[in-house]
Amino acid sequence: MIRLSRKSLSALALVAGLGLAGAAVAAVNARAVIESREANFKTMGRSMKAITDGLKADSPNMSAIASNAATIRGLAPKVSTWFPKGTGPESGVKTDARAEIWTDPAGFAAAARRLEPEAAKLEALARAGDVAGARAQVRALGGTCGGCHDKFKVD
Ligand code: HEC
Repeated sequence: MIRLSRKSLSALALVAGLGLAGAAVAAVNARAVIESREANFKTMGRSMKAITDGLKADSPNMSAIASNAATIRGLAPKVSTWFPKGTGPESGVKTDARAEIWTDPAGFAAAARRLEPEAAKLEALARAGDVAGARAQVRALGGTCGGCHDKFKVD
């Protein structure tokens, strides 16, 4: 029989308590991370909508298109940092992130890397006032959003 001294019992209780506190901290952090990345994606979604709506006009406001493209370009290199381990479906927090983000990190990183250059191209075309070019490029940019969502985001 294992006999535990009072000291070791309280040490065990302390470890168990720390474990629970650790889990609670992790849950709080997961929620904060998920909420902040969803807010960032909403910003990208609003910029994308402003771009597609804006480009439907006969003479689009190209500086508005450029600045929305710049918003997406600025966020793009950060996307891969918004998914630390423990912030997937297993966190218990509501998220549309699929577990494949963590089981296929190379595929996810590749999908994330496609975003910035396409946003930068759109921004450059918009700054140059190239309406036809921007209309074509917004489809390429949208393809990088959809390409990642198809594999890594719940519908
Ligand atoms: C590398 C992958 C990836 C790329 C690229 C990507 N997304 Fe997403 N997006 C996700 C994932 C994963 C989620 C789900 C996040 C969550 O729920 O935790 C998401 C969620 C969203 C949401 C929903 C946010 C919410 O919770 O309401 C919008 C809107 C969105 N993305 C827009 C875009 C747009 C627009 C682009 C392109 C300009 C884009 N995304 C590019 C992976 C990506």
